[in-house]
Order: sequence, then structure tokens, then C-alpha cells
Amino acid sequence: MSKIALVTGASAGFGAAISRRLIAEGYTVVGAARRLDRLQTLQAELGAAFHPLVMDVTDTAAIDQGCGWISQQFAGLDLLVNNAGLALGVAPAQEASLNDWERMIATNVLGLTRLVHAVLPGMVKRNQGHIINIGSTAGSHPYPGGNVYGATKAFVRQLSLNLRADLWGTQVRVSNIEPGLCGGTEFSLVRLGDTERAAAVYEGADPLTADDIADAVAWVATRPARVNINAVELMPVSQSFAGLKIHRATPAA
Ligand SMILES: NC(=O)c1ccc[n+]([C@@H]2O[C@H](COP(=O)([O-])OP(=O)(O)OC[C@H]3O[C@@H](n4cnc5c(N)ncnc54)[C@H](OP(=O)(O)O)[C@@H]3O)[C@@H](O)[C@H]2O)c1
Repeated sequence: MSKIALVTGASAGFGAAISRRLIAEGYTVVGAARRLDRLQTLQAELGAAFHPLVMDVTDTAAIDQGCGWISQQFAGLDLLVNNAGLALGVAPAQEASLNDWERMIATNVLGLTRLVHAVLPGMVKRNQGHIINIGSTAGSHPYPGGNVYGATKAFVRQLSLNLRADLWGTQVRVSNIEPGLCGGTEFSLVRLGDTERAAAVYEGADPLTADDIADAVAWVATRPARVNINAVELMPVSQSFAGLKIHRATPAA
């Protein structure tokens, strides 16, 4: 029997690459997103092992409906890849749009949390399952303009660890994948709203690719049942750390 995975944000970027990779590993994948046409294109590529599901993770009713459909179709969910997410804007906090902040929280925090809440009881009941959250290096390493986006990913990081604490004594696993700069997805276009500015983010950087993230997900998911990978942080070699900044007052003349 093929294992069943739900991958959110499957219509683009990491989610599409993760769906491809999990199917290559023998999973049946329910790929969820808002854009049905994109999911259908992926279904045409991946065949019967890929099931498109239109589900906006900011819509509680859509999550209830989607998860209800999954439990009617399949015996149980073996893997949830909580990948749907976005960053909006790079403005400093004092200039940022409240609407952008609320959309990031609604998607990256509330959407992800609702899905955990929806699937976890079934996994515990069957004493089997794995939740792989897609966090970010932005959840651990602050940067200017990262404000609420980084905070949503810090939430994902801590939620992943706290779930492990509550799941003690069960066989249910939780992991957080924390990528750094990764190109070839729609992430920067969504964030900056401009193709040229988005392309400039990756110029000369040899960033990670969506396949690198899919590789990490597949590795984490295929460890022996006794092994829980708590977190995987990955960056391109070109990305590293900067020191703390000090703003110095200009000496009075
Ligand atoms: N790229 C990076 O550098 C990077 C680094 C670290 C972490 N991440 C994280 O990795 C995840 C995937 O990023 P990506 O680079 O693959 O971005 P992407 O190419 O923009 O893909 C984002 C996916 O999320 C889906 N999505 C967005 N809002 C949604 C909603 N309300 N309901 C359902 N699906 C929604 C989109 O599908 P629809 O528009 O069709 O709904 C799309 O499939 C995100 O959580 C992101 O924060 C990305």
C-alpha cells in the first residue's frame, strides 16, 4: 500500500518539487493550493498518484472540507508537508503594510496551525504519521525587512518543537525544514511583485533549488521509524552570516 501525503502549496516552487519527489519515492500525493490550473498541469505530468485539491489554507471551511475529502478517499494520512506560505514586502516594520502582515500570519501561522490541528488526532489514533513543516532560516536569523515574515517562521520552528514535546510516547514524527536563499520559485516575485527585482535577489548567488528542498524532505521522511529529524537548516554555500550592526552617533562638532 502506497503511503499518503498531503503537500500544501503544491502548485509552484517547493511544493511542486516535493510532490514530484514523494511520488518518485512511492507516495500517493494530495497536492493542495488555490490555483487549480497549476495543479492540473502537475497532475498531467505526475499521473494517477497525484490528486489535486483546491484548498486555501486561510479558509477554515476549505480545510475542513479538504481534510474530510482526504479521509473519505484514503485510510489515513501518513505525511503532511506544511509548505504553503509567503513573504510580502521587505519594508522596515515602521513602514510595512498591516495588510501584508496579516496575510503572512493568516497563511504561514494560522493556515499551518489549522492543518496540524486537523490531521494530528488521526495520526495519534493510528500511532503513525509525520508532519514536515517548511520553516526558514528567517525564523532563526533576523535581517532588516524580515520582521513579520521571520516571526511567522519562528512560530513554525517553536510549534514544531512543542509538538514533539506533546507527542512524547507516540510514533508520530515532526520535523522543520529551514531553507535559506532558494531560487527558481515564485517566492520573490510574490514578495516584491516585480520580475526584475525578484531576479536580482538571486543574481550571481547560485542559490538552493526547489529540488534541494525536496531532497531534504524526502530524506527526513524516509529515515527509519525510530528516527525523528527535529530540524534541518540548509543554505547555499554563497549565503552566510553578517555581524551585529552598531549605529554610532555623530560626534558633536
Ligand atoms: N524560496 C525561498 O527562498 C524560501 C526560503 C525559505 C522558506 N521558504 C518557504 O517555503 C515555502 C514555499 O515557498 P516557495 O519558494 O516554493 O514559494 P512559491 O513558489 O511562491 O510557492 C508558494 C506556494 O504556496 C501556495 N500558497 C500561498 N498561499 C496559499 C494559501 N492561502 N492557500 C494555499 N496555498 C497557498 C501557492 O499556491 P497558490 O498561489 O496556487 O495557492 C504556492 O503553491 C513557503 O512557506 C516559504 O515561506 C521559501
